[in-house]
Amino acid sequence: MLGNFTFCNPTRLYFGKGAVEHLKEELPKYGKNVLLVYGGGSIKKNGIYDAVTQILKECGKTVTEDAGVMPNPTVEKLYEGVQRARQSKADLILAVGGGSVCDYAKAVSVSVHCDEDPWDKYFIRFEEPTCPIVPVACVLTMVGTGSEMNGGSVITNYEQKLKIGHVFGTQVFPKFSVLDPTYTFTLPKYQMISGIYDIFNHICEQYFSGTDDNTSDYLSEGLMRSVIHSSRIAVKDPADYEARSNIMWTATWALNTLVAMGKDTDWEVHMLGQAVGAHTDATHGMTLAAVSMAYYRHILPYGLARFRRFAVNVWDVDPAGKTDEQIAREGLAAMESWMKELGLVMHLKELGVNEGMLDGLVKSTLVMQGGYKVLTEGEIRAIFEESL
Ligand code: NZQ
Ligand code: ZN
Repeated sequence: MLGNFTFCNPTRLYFGKGAVEHLKEELPKYGKNVLLVYGGGSIKKNGIYDAVTQILKECGKTVTEDAGVMPNPTVEKLYEGVQRARQSKADLILAVGGGSVCDYAKAVSVSVHCDEDPWDKYFIRFEEPTCPIVPVACVLTMVGTGSEMNGGSVITNYEQKLKIGHVFGTQVFPKFSVLDPTYTFTLPKYQMISGIYDIFNHICEQYFSGTDDNTSDYLSEGLMRSVIHSSRIAVKDPADYEARSNIMWTATWALNTLVAMGKDTDWEVHMLGQAVGAHTDATHGMTLAAVSMAYYRHILPYGLARFRRFAVNVWDVDPAGKTDEQIAREGLAAMESWMKELGLVMHLKELGVNEGMLDGLVKSTLVMQGGYKVLTEGEIRAIFEESL
C-alpha cells in the first residue's frame, strides 16, 4: 500500500542548449555577494567559467571564488569554504560543476551561520539545520548524482574513514539549476559512464524494496529503460544530443525524491560504495558498479518477485518455461553484460582495494534497514570479498 507522504520539490530547472542565459533572470533575485564554487578547473577549459562569470558581471555581482572542490569533497575543504563564505558575506552560493561541487555548496550553505562543527552536527548526528541557510544554485556540468534537484550532500572524512551523505530538507535544495546537456560533452568517458551507472543505481536503490503495488516502481522501470537505451547510444557517440539530454533528465528524475514517495528504499549499495570511497577516493559511480553484482545476487532470494519483475519489465527476459529464480538471475546477467558493455569497473581491485583493507571497509559500511535483507557484518564482508 502506498504510504503517506508529503511531496514538494522547490528547485526551478532551466533545461536545454543555452539555458545558462536564464541566470540573468535569476541572479537579480539575490543579494550582491556571490560565492562562485567550482572544481579542479574543467570549467575554465571548456568555456563554462567564461559564460557564467560574464553574466555575473553583467548582473553587477561581487564575486568571490572558491575553487578546487575535489571529487568526493572533504571535511577540510568544507571548513575552508565556510570561512570564505563568511568573509565574503555570501548572499548566494553558485555551484558550477558536478555533484561534488553542488553537494559541497549545500554543506557550506548550512554551515555559514552555524556555531557548531558541521561535520559532527550534520554528518555524524544527522541533525537538521537550526540556523539561517544561504541559498544555493547550480550550473550542472556532470550528470549522475541528482544533486541539482535534491537536498543530498555527501562529505568525506578520510581521517575517520567515513564518507557520509546527509539528505537535507527542501530548504537546502538548490533554488534553481541550469541543465545544458552540451555542458556535459567535455566529460571524459570514464566520468560519463560512471554517472550513467550512478543514475541507474539510484533507481535500483529505490526499486529493490517493498512488495506492494506502487506507481513509483512503474516510473522507475521507465527511467531504467530510458537510461539503458540512451547509454548505449552515448558510449558510441558522446556528442549525440538526444541521448545526452535524455541521460541528463533521467538523472534528475532518478533522485529528485519523486520515485521514493510512499515506499521503502534500500541504499545499501551506496553504503558499500561510500565505504570504498572513504578508503580509496575512487570515483563514486565506479564504487557502486564494483559492488553491485555481488550485492544483488546476494539479496535476490529475499526479493525474488521484484527481481523477476525487473528481469521481465526492464531487460525483456522471456519468462516462458522458466522458474522465477531462473528469470530473476537472467535479469541480473543482462544487467551485468550491459555494465561490461559500457566499460564500468566491475572489480574493487581496479579501484585500489586489496584484501588487507576488508576489515576497514566493513567497519565503514552503514547498514540500512529498507532493502530486502538487512546485512550482517559477515554478509558485508562476503560481498566485498566477492567484489574484489
Ligand atoms: O573538478 P573538475 O576539474 O571540474 O573535474 C570534474 C571531476 O574531476 C570532472 N568534470 C565535471 N564536469 C566536467 C568535468 N570534466 C570535463 N567536463 C565537464 N563538463 O568530473 C569529475 C567528477 O566530478 P564530480 O562532481 O566529483 O562527479 P559527480 O557528479 O559524480 O559527483 C560525485 C559526488 O557526489 C556524491 C558522491 O558521493 C560524490 O561525492 N553524491 C551525491 C548525491 C546527492 N547529492 O544526492 C547522491 C549520489 O549518490 C552521490 O553519493
Ligand atoms: Zn549515487
